This record gives sequence, structure tokens and C-alpha cells, in this order.
Amino acid sequence: MRAKVTINSVEHEIDTHERETLLESCLRAQIKPSYSCLEGMCSFCEAEIEEGDVKTNPGYETKSHPRTVKTCQTFPVSKTVKIKYLKST
Ligand code: FES
Repeated sequence: MRAKVTINSVEHEIDTHERETLLESCLRAQIKPSYSCLEGMCSFCEAEIEEGDVKTNPGYETKSHPRTVKTCQTFPVSKTVKIKYLKST
């Protein structure tokens, strides 16, 4: 599985895994989006889903879910996804 990830207007391509959150995949690839708690509380890791399907842990949906998600609580479902982080780092 693959993801195109935009952070600070720069696009990265990374590997993803169905049992790894989108944020964990970014950190494993050593790209650093905005994040803090890793527990679905701070909302710093919110990203817009531009393409593809994802699954968010129940109870951690955002107001505009599924278009905007907390990436520390969201997993890729489709083979490719494209996301854009909303906060700059
Ligand atoms: S890192 Fe805090 S909500 Fe995702």
C-alpha cells in the first residue's frame, strides 16, 4: 500500500500498512507531520483525505469525517491514498 502525503506544501510518497496508522507510516518514513498526543486528543495530526478510502477508530471521528481525519487514529483501506496535513510544522 502507498500514500501520497503533503506536509507544508511538499508531497512525499511513502509505504503504508493496513495495521499501521497513517501517522505511524509517516513517522516510519521519517517525514514529520504536525502531531502531539498520538491518542486522538489534540487534533494536531488532522489531514484532509484527497483520494482513497480510510478507516478511523470509533469515537475519534472529526466533525468533517471522513473528509478530514485524525491520522493517529486512521488506517488506510484502499491500495493508495492521498492526504494533506492541515497544520504546518
Ligand atoms: S496526535 Fe493528537 S490527535 Fe493525533
